[in-house]
Amino acid sequence: MAAPLPICWLNGEFLPLAEARISPLDRGFLFADAVYEVVPVYAGRPFLFVEHIARLERSLGEVRMAAPMARAAWAALLTELVARNGGGDMYLYLHVSRGADEGRNHALNPALAPTVFLMAAPLPATDPAVLENGVAAVTLADQRWARCDIKSTALLANVLAKSAAADAGATEAILLAGGRLREGSSSSVMVVHGGALSAPPYGPEILPGTTRELALRLCTRAGIPVRIEPVSEAALRGADEILLGFATRGILAVTRLDGTPVGSGRPGPVARRLQELFAAYRAELAGTPLLPA
Ligand SMILES: Cc1ncc(COP(=O)(O)O)c(C=O)c1O
Repeated sequence: MAAPLPICWLNGEFLPLAEARISPLDRGFLFADAVYEVVPVYAGRPFLFVEHIARLERSLGEVRMAAPMARAAWAALLTELVARNGGGDMYLYLHVSRGADEGRNHALNPALAPTVFLMAAPLPATDPAVLENGVAAVTLADQRWARCDIKSTALLANVLAKSAAADAGATEAILLAGGRLREGSSSSVMVVHGGALSAPPYGPEILPGTTRELALRLCTRAGIPVRIEPVSEAALRGADEILLGFATRGILAVTRLDGTPVGSGRPGPVARRLQELFAAYRAELAGTPLLPA
């Protein structure tokens, strides 16, 4: 992962990332009492802005934090941060913690001002070999908490799962529980059977994915059947295609699962079609306002 871009925004001011400082009493640091978003930016324009801010607002509400600013203010701030970092393609990290207290108190102190931090980083271009060959994934038992629908910075179990995948030479860990597919350590997971795309229903155990939502929408628009249904481990292992969706990488095909080829062992037609549809959709949105009038 490339080093972040130089200019960040912390609690009301733009400043060099190297000079940004927060208190060690910040509850984000002490308790992971914070939520976040990752927003891709193409040609200077934040992608799926409303969807990301809506998810951030939902995460904040679920952990009893107020939205620190209105959508129009977020839009202006993101646009300015992108410009100050030179525009083009990048991704933005948005982090809202409950702020710094006078000590280490578990109980909430409603008087705290949140810590709001934004930084930018280069968007890694997808390696053509990854598009050509797909990626490897491993399955693991889901060991995360019971509210994975909240995009919380408490990511230790995700970090360990991703590291276990990396140790096995894989790109992603696909998490299972009770014989069913949940999601990846940092991605949504979808499967293809007989040309139809299936994704597990949302609930407290799965993060609503912006990339997954767009994939389902674009499939529907393109006449590819879409099903929201529980995906058993057997259905995952027997899939013609397994797709990962993440904001920073779009759609990737999993072509090896636990060392076994998925389907033909090559990226399949739905993965390839979705990659084209995503590129076309990015072009379709270029120059349009971030917020509906
Ligand atoms: C656990 C988890 N699930 C799903 C996703 C995919 O969400 P999105 O497509 O909005 O990036 C992410 C992205 O970070 C994630 O961390």
